[in-house]
Amino acid sequence: MLKKCLFPAAGYGTRFLPATKAMPKEMLPIVNKPLIQYGVEEALEAGMDRIAIVTGRGKRAIEDHFDISYELEHQIRGTDKEERLADIRRLIDECTFSYTRQLEMRGLGHAILTGETLIGREPFGVLLADDLCEGEDHGVLKQMARLYEQYHCSIVAVEEVPETEVHKYGVIRGDRLEPGIHRVRDMVEKPAREQAPSNLAIIGRYILTPDIFDILRKTPPGKGDEVQITDALLEQAKAGNVIAYQFRGQRFDCGSVGGFVEATQHFHAQMDD
Ligand code: G1P
Repeated sequence: MLKKCLFPAAGYGTRFLPATKAMPKEMLPIVNKPLIQYGVEEALEAGMDRIAIVTGRGKRAIEDHFDISYELEHQIRGTDKEERLADIRRLIDECTFSYTRQLEMRGLGHAILTGETLIGREPFGVLLADDLCEGEDHGVLKQMARLYEQYHCSIVAVEEVPETEVHKYGVIRGDRLEPGIHRVRDMVEKPAREQAPSNLAIIGRYILTPDIFDILRKTPPGKGDEVQITDALLEQAKAGNVIAYQFRGQRFDCGSVGGFVEATQHFHAQMDD
């Protein structure tokens, strides 16, 4: 039912400079696979094979990655290296990729609104590639897609974070419906510790209903003078139309150097198994 997944990928990745000076941060590899490829694999597992990517200047490597490389494939055909392209070939065969450019960086909400032209009027997933998630049984997006079939409203993935970290995230307050599932009553983008409504932080996985675009069009810039998806979601939440889901699995904050190193060690150890 959910067919499309939006990847906001226009940000600069300043925390990784100089590595991200000429290379998109989404192309930084965890071991041998770019961050965004992990994300597309997660979307495909959830049944979302229409991949919509909001890019910006200097992001062309992403388009090249999800395209055939005839010369390279010809070069390694019949050798044991061919296997290394098997995963990306599968994604290219099974997904369609479309792109639009965000001309100015005006926040995550603005990036999502820029993607409207690729999404249209249907519910869709949003995946922030620098939150790398390893689901326990299924990927986080698939867990959320299942929940969507039950609730038919917007869903945000959340996890508990230490109080000292709440200022880095959108934070929710909700009424518990089932273990790990809450109806959101309030949400605040990057609150000070004293103002945080809880320690349940939003991580980079969303299912959004398409009315979010109409709300985003009217959402004024908020925290950091940027249009925040958290503020637009609060409008839906006031009508009882947002669920927060404590996913089963582990998340690595690959937007920070510490989380990136942790993810690298984790996935490298798995390869050695
Ligand atoms: C964005 C959202 C924030 C969310 C976070 C998850 O912030 O605005 O609500 O908690 O992603 O990674 P950013 O990390 O882009 O500043």
